Amino acid sequence: MKVIRGIKPMQEISAYLRRTGKKIGLVPTMGFLHEGHVSLMLAAKDECDTVIVSIFVNPAQFLPKEDFKSYPRDLSRDYHVCKAAGVNYIFYPEAKDMYGEDYKTYVNVNEISDRLEGKYRPGHFTGVATVVLKLFNITKPDFAYFGQKDAQQAVIIRKMIKDLNLDVNPRICETVRGEDGLALSSRNSYLQEDQKRNAAVLNKMLKMGKGLVLSNEYGTAREIKKKMTEYAETNSPDCTLQYIAITDNNNLRKIKNIPEYEGEVLISLAAYFGKTRLIDNILFNKKNERLI
Ligand code: PAJ
Repeated sequence: MKVIRGIKPMQEISAYLRRTGKKIGLVPTMGFLHEGHVSLMLAAKDECDTVIVSIFVNPAQFLPKEDFKSYPRDLSRDYHVCKAAGVNYIFYPEAKDMYGEDYKTYVNVNEISDRLEGKYRPGHFTGVATVVLKLFNITKPDFAYFGQKDAQQAVIIRKMIKDLNLDVNPRICETVRGEDGLALSSRNSYLQEDQKRNAAVLNKMLKMGKGLVLSNEYGTAREIKKKMTEYAETNSPDCTLQYIAITDNNNLRKIKNIPEYEGEVLISLAAYFGKTRLIDNILFNKKNERLI
């Protein structure tokens, strides 16, 4: 496994690999790798000849007051995780190379980027789409792997690939969770033990929400969200919900009439445990997945 820091060298390696018919799989990450990231590497390994993991804490996707500086970083640990997963290259660029002094170009997936997370993190998805497009241009992947954990990010990247005719196949992989259902996240390292235990409520709420949607007993999303909120309040007093949204999975538009809606339903949420902000979601198909 090689660690590549320079953009040009990475581009040359990728161009050579593509020329020689190797299928390249890219797993973009911000490091501090966990089993969720590993699941993406293994999916890439299954499907591709060469796996590139990028590790870059992307300043462009953090708002000024967010945790860019304190975001956890541990390259030597990440190195071993990648090596054990059979990764071929770690691309580990420097911010000054990714965003030169006079950097001016950004990609925005309109409207979809302003919903859900975008309301609370304006500009975040512009930073994400921009860096992901840059990473595609540098590593030239045939396949790129993303987690369903970041549902809106997955929707936005699929849309960018489609709208800009990018020659990359996106793969969205299932969320990896701990035994208690808490979605793995690099930011879980901010949580104290009791907060971590309490955060398991998120997955339970989402499962409950799914059951309520499928029951067809609730006409509006508002009633379902109220039930979910009550559940959180009773079961995890230190959970401060920021939002719950019940939407489709393409444009992230709110579903107005739950009983009449057919197709994919995404329930997503954000919540604080102390100062730590966590997101999670559940995606299911209303048409095929009736309750017994
Ligand atoms: P990061 O948070 O490091 O996540 C990298 C990838 O791992 C993302 O596609 C994310 O959805 C996926 N992932 C995180 N936790 C997961 C889990 N529990 N199960 C499955 N997949 C999981 O997301 C980013 O970085 C950045 O926004 C990035 C795309 C790298 C652009 O900077």
